Amino acid sequence: MPNGERPWPGRHLLDVADATEGDLEAVMVTADGLTDALGESPAALRGRRVATLFYEASTRTRLSFDRAARSLGAEVMDLPVGLSSVTKGESLIDTVRTLEALGAEFLVIRHARSGAPWLAARHFRGHVINAGDGWHAHPTQALLDLYTLRSLLPRGVRGARVVIVGDVLRSRVARSNIWTLTAAGARVTLCAPAVWLRGFQEWARAMAPERSIDLVGDLATALRGAEAVMALRVQVERLSDAGGPSQAEYAARFGLTGARLKAAGSDPLILHPGPMNEGVEISSEVAAGPRSAITEQVANGVRVRAAVFQMLAGGALADA
Ligand code: CP
Repeated sequence: MPNGERPWPGRHLLDVADATEGDLEAVMVTADGLTDALGESPAALRGRRVATLFYEASTRTRLSFDRAARSLGAEVMDLPVGLSSVTKGESLIDTVRTLEALGAEFLVIRHARSGAPWLAARHFRGHVINAGDGWHAHPTQALLDLYTLRSLLPRGVRGARVVIVGDVLRSRVARSNIWTLTAAGARVTLCAPAVWLRGFQEWARAMAPERSIDLVGDLATALRGAEAVMALRVQVERLSDAGGPSQAEYAARFGLTGARLKAAGSDPLILHPGPMNEGVEISSEVAAGPRSAITEQVANGVRVRAAVFQMLAGGALADA
């Protein structure tokens, strides 16, 4: 691999829960090394086929995987699931085997069910990349978020206090970010109504006792001294489930507004994985404001996903 970069330590990228700081830094360095993820990069995937298989809606992830693969010279086979034989009852395993028979060596999969990418990986001889499974994991989102913070935080990620605010309970973005940010040495504060944080303290203590994860039920407290704040998409259709707040209650207590940031005396970087509900979890003013890194996140998604492809392509298929 060029510039002393190293492959991803495995055949697939399914999760980042076990990623070490070194693994993450390798992705960051590989992404840095791509001169321009939009066309001037070494053609690491020339002549190879990438299949994108999205069982759930996506704008950013799907398009950025597509651009990343093409920028490395790959041919992309995008299966529109709603128009495919999935609608006639074709199983995930059969679809995966069909894509492999058509020459796919990389499979990018998003699915509403947690664990679906692991099932796909058991039946696909190439490389599987998890593009988001249920509430569980969204590894490339967390990698591009880390890349964005690493690029924009003046003192870097180690020691930085990063607040993740919103529906942590149902968020695959939050879970993957907890792993990557704490592995990179950030101090993570989770902020949400108590009903969406239930069980997280115990989970954090059991899973990662040495990592810095705090839980705060009050946004003003969480914002004080924060260097970056990531607002999560509120799943408005599920807001009142399990005793959660209404949309208006959530916006009133946890919506990220200019007034609230000013009152907290903090001027953090603002991140959001998208898609946004402007006026609910984030105001339009903050989303488009001078501290917003939201468009950088989207742009970095291409570079970071290209780095992931390159690192998987450089690894050994036998490293399951
Ligand atoms: N962040 C994210 O996964 O966005 P999409 O659903 O648009 O891909």
